[in-house]
Amino acid sequence: MVHPPLNNRFMSGQTSTLISNIGELMTQDAEHRVLKDAAVVIEGERIAWIGPASEAPSADGHVDAEGRAVLPGWVDSHSHLIFAGDRTAEFEARMAGQSYSAGGIAVTTGATRAASDEELTRLAAGRVAEAVSQGTTYLESKTGYGLDLENEARSARIAAATVDEVTYLGAHLVPAGADAEEYTDLVCGPMLDAVRPYVKWADVFCERGAFTEEQSRRVLTACRDAGLGLRVHGNQLGEGPGVQLAVEFGAASVDHVNYLSAADIGALAGTWSGWDASTGTGTRGTVATCLPACDLSTRQPLAPGRALIDAGVQIALAANCNPGTSYTSSIAFCVTTAVLQMHLSVHEAVRAATYGGALALGRESGNDVDGERAVGSIAVGHRADLHMLKAPSATHLAYRPGIPLTFAVWRAGVRAV
Ligand code: NIG
Repeated sequence: MVHPPLNNRFMSGQTSTLISNIGELMTQDAEHRVLKDAAVVIEGERIAWIGPASEAPSADGHVDAEGRAVLPGWVDSHSHLIFAGDRTAEFEARMAGQSYSAGGIAVTTGATRAASDEELTRLAAGRVAEAVSQGTTYLESKTGYGLDLENEARSARIAAATVDEVTYLGAHLVPAGADAEEYTDLVCGPMLDAVRPYVKWADVFCERGAFTEEQSRRVLTACRDAGLGLRVHGNQLGEGPGVQLAVEFGAASVDHVNYLSAADIGALAGTWSGWDASTGTGTRGTVATCLPACDLSTRQPLAPGRALIDAGVQIALAANCNPGTSYTSSIAFCVTTAVLQMHLSVHEAVRAATYGGALALGRESGNDVDGERAVGSIAVGHRADLHMLKAPSATHLAYRPGIPLTFAVWRAGVRAV
């Protein structure tokens, strides 16, 4: 089939680029297609065409993939990038046998409060650049190391200028010297008002040593009433109410999920009963976000990703970049671990780190006629976020653990690597 030039075809007048000779195109689209000998055309910020290389239309520019694999850019739906300071000593103590507790957050809070706006912005931008250089094209970050009105608002403002999606996590830890109930009032009241212009999501660390079920419920209620989407840090350090709360509040995700009872898995699966996973349509439920780099760094059991998928739960994989429990932005490391240790197939792991992250952020759908373009999958009209590997297939992510495999990255159609 002969295609007319793209600019005639789409009339956008935007510059187009043909990426041809793709050995494996793992689309993670609605049909879960994996195409061999494929091509993609990017036009402006969007994907304009995908199909067999032999049928590719012409474009303004051309990149020969020389048989390499192309995936959607990673969608990292859980990180804590707005911080200063260092917790190497805590990490060393943990490797020597000490267990992780939420209290270390206070160390980072001290350093973050002491840093200037410029310093916090520079540090966060450096972390984003590090993530993009490894194939991440869409990032969420939480606040949560300010823990007073002024510093939470400042963290939210800096995050909004630095990442794609911002989550309010004033309920990360009760700061030293504060009364837990009074601090929860602050999180649900004036602090929420101060961060509201900058954030789309709210989160609560519902865990022993952090916020109780009742306090978490108050935070989730106030944030929902303020119009924010919800997520919960839950079941990280032991079984607890986090998952059930997330389900009760219809949260977009519950993150960590290391310690799950059969009832927790059943409740999460129930939220996806109206969802057709083969087409990506229906009523969306609560995504279980697994954070394998964090699990390894805290020596917690890996989240039961296999059991969750088998039960019908949509999962995401995220890096959870933060100075305490997971100082990495490498989603490739998470994918490798998910395959080697959590028993996911390569396709499932890549899906969780792309489409799954997008689902957790409510960005899995949207095309030319919608306001926002979908991220996390490769389909016409979706945002042109592409990750080309230095390898002929995505399998190499698990087959060659630890090898940096990012060859090229396009973020919203712009070549970033
Ligand atoms: O996601 N669990 C809570 N929050 C972070 C850790 C924060 C810290 O220890 O600094 C996490 O692992």
